[in-house]
Amino acid sequence: MRAAGVMEFGGPEALRIVDVPDEPLGPGQVRLRVAAATVNPTDTYSRSGAYAERDPVKTPPWVPGMDVAGVVTEVADGVEHLAVGDLAMGIVVPFGPHGGYRENKVLPGNSVVRAPRGTDAVHASTLPMNGLTARLALDLMGLRPGQVLAVTGAAGAFGGYVVQLAKADGLTVVADASEADEQLVRELGADVVVRRGDDVAERMRERFPAGVDGLADGSVQDALVLPAVRDGGAVATVRGYRGDGSRGLRVFPTLVRRVAEDRAALDRLRQQAEDGVLTLRVARTFPVEQAADAHRLLERGGVRGRLVLTF
Ligand SMILES: NC(=O)c1ccc[n+]([C@@H]2O[C@H](COP(=O)([O-])OP(=O)(O)OC[C@H]3O[C@@H](n4cnc5c(N)ncnc54)[C@H](OP(=O)(O)O)[C@@H]3O)[C@@H](O)[C@H]2O)c1
Repeated sequence: MRAAGVMEFGGPEALRIVDVPDEPLGPGQVRLRVAAATVNPTDTYSRSGAYAERDPVKTPPWVPGMDVAGVVTEVADGVEHLAVGDLAMGIVVPFGPHGGYRENKVLPGNSVVRAPRGTDAVHASTLPMNGLTARLALDLMGLRPGQVLAVTGAAGAFGGYVVQLAKADGLTVVADASEADEQLVRELGADVVVRRGDDVAERMRERFPAGVDGLADGSVQDALVLPAVRDGGAVATVRGYRGDGSRGLRVFPTLVRRVAEDRAALDRLRQQAEDGVLTLRVARTFPVEQAADAHRLLERGGVRGRLVLTF
């Protein structure tokens, strides 16, 4: 069966079509005929070998990819919420050849829900992983309606969902943007938009002199953004940063794997997409044979909306 993966870790050019065996269907699992698989920043780290040490599989090929959408082709006993023929979306926790860039994928039933009504597989695939990460970041910070949340990288996939979910939760949102992204970030619902950059915390403080109650750091600026947050405030980080221990800040490294089988959360995201709370943004699609080109484009930066591989 066809997948896009690497036989040797490396740059985008290492990605090629590889042959992988079918995955057996176990109890509580579902099989999708994958029509769309997103390309996320983390996939570039998988591809380059940054996760090789923690991957239990030590032989090639390694297949990246953390979310997929497609038609359900098999449902194991015990899975009641999906039926063969449903268009569904799911989050993948990749290891070895078991990433999302494959034409056929078995997933835990609790990692898969119906695609939002009215969307196609390409759009649906952009929701599970970043939507769940955004939800988890907000839940870890636990802000109350009316409190102020700052979001960096707000034009990105994670940041954009944080902005939209935070508004739905009743928070006031201050978000960063380049001049070119300002309109986009406003349309996502940010109440206040400040210019992105190394001085983003200062700009946020200008607008909220007491400091914000929480901050979701989608641009991974780590220590640079902490001054935006009031003493004792919350910070959600997405690449492991744990803060500097200062001012009673509560820093929450956010790992989506923790919630990869939270079906209720995934289904709520589906509902919020159907309700127009969440916007599913696609930058461009690539046939899976061109996965290397998609990685090149993502690594260049500036992509707005997700890149999606199609099968
Ligand atoms: N831990 C987890 O479970 C988890 C889950 C999901 C995502 N993540 C991580 O979250 C991060 C964001 O992911 P994403 O998919 O949202 O990426 P994305 O779509 O590329 O968005 C990132 C945004 O941040 C901006 N940015 C990057 N560097 C910046 C800087 N120094 N100053 C200001 N803005 C900057 C980018 O702008 P440009 O495009 O112009 O550079 C882009 O708008 C990635 O590192 C990803 O690996 C982690």
